[in-house]
Amino acid sequence: MLEQLKELAVEAEGKIKRVRTLSGLNNLRVEYLGKKGPIQEVMKNMKDLSPDERKAAGQISNDVKRTISEAITAKKEELELAEINKQLAEETIDVTLPSKKTILGGMHPLNAVIADIEDFFIGMGYTIAVGTEVEEDHYNFELLNLPQDHPARDMQDSFYIDDHHLLRTHTSPIQVRTLEAAKGQGPVKILCPGKTYRRDDDDATHSHQFMQIEGLHVDQSVTIADLKGILEALAKHLFGPEREIRLRPSFFPFTEPSVEVDVSCSECGGDGCSLCKQTGWLEILGAGMVHPNVLKMSGFNTPEFDEYYLEGPMYQGFAFGMGVERIAMLKYGIEDIRHFYTNDMRFLKQFK
Ligand code: DAH
Repeated sequence: MLEQLKELAVEAEGKIKRVRTLSGLNNLRVEYLGKKGPIQEVMKNMKDLSPDERKAAGQISNDVKRTISEAITAKKEELELAEINKQLAEETIDVTLPSKKTILGGMHPLNAVIADIEDFFIGMGYTIAVGTEVEEDHYNFELLNLPQDHPARDMQDSFYIDDHHLLRTHTSPIQVRTLEAAKGQGPVKILCPGKTYRRDDDDATHSHQFMQIEGLHVDQSVTIADLKGILEALAKHLFGPEREIRLRPSFFPFTEPSVEVDVSCSECGGDGCSLCKQTGWLEILGAGMVHPNVLKMSGFNTPEFDEYYLEGPMYQGFAFGMGVERIAMLKYGIEDIRHFYTNDMRFLKQFK
């Protein structure tokens, strides 16, 4: 019987040595140390032994159990350690491997120009106003002093949606909508960026869809000097501190007087070159003092119509409108407006 127990110990130790997995090891533990294990089986014959022999057998069976259980514990530690090492090996990061490139997007040059101009005007106390791309012709034309039969309406060949709705041809209707909402109460000081549409054939300088930024400042004592001051500051901000501006008389139905604004050529500094067509100046925007008819139609008192309104303060102000593509083309030296809209990565990547 003692021999049997010793053989069991040797057999179990052998199996424990060879087992490769924790679950296999657990099976061995149940097999050898469980209630129905071989040691218990052998010990059932104890009753046939003398008391002395029984004592010795008990001792040995305990020794065998302890030996097996210690072997299991040691093996368990060994297997667990191996498991951890395996996991560590699998998760090792090779810092010398070349990394995968993450491609980061950049701002579209038109959005970058808009953001820059917005920042400039927000710093001057303007707020951003937006309108809708589908506009009523009433707001796009009539309320801007372009009546139905006005010849200037021919200048803007438009995309009509139905008899009275069109894709806005400029951002100027936002002026009217904002003034109307202010209900005759100034000041109104807004900047309006947005997409605009005209029935043009696309070429290097024309696009049927383009972007404009409109500005409007109406208050009780805003003058054309304020307009000139802010546009000069804008030109220097956009094109450099050495730039000068000049105002040329022009015509827009919604301003009186109207001006076209030029900036001194950034290429030649005003001497004349191919960019400025030898004039030394580059046209950047249209502007003027808001026409009294526009103020009146959107519910503002103006000195021009002082007999018309009886109560409340009188207002006047200036407005301006610029093409975002034109500014971006001058700023970055882009020669074809279609680059902005054809999504060529070689073009876009340059503006990160
Ligand atoms: N709406 C004009 C255009 O699309 C641009 C413009 C000129 C806007 C003069 C103005 C302005 O607000 O005062 O050509």
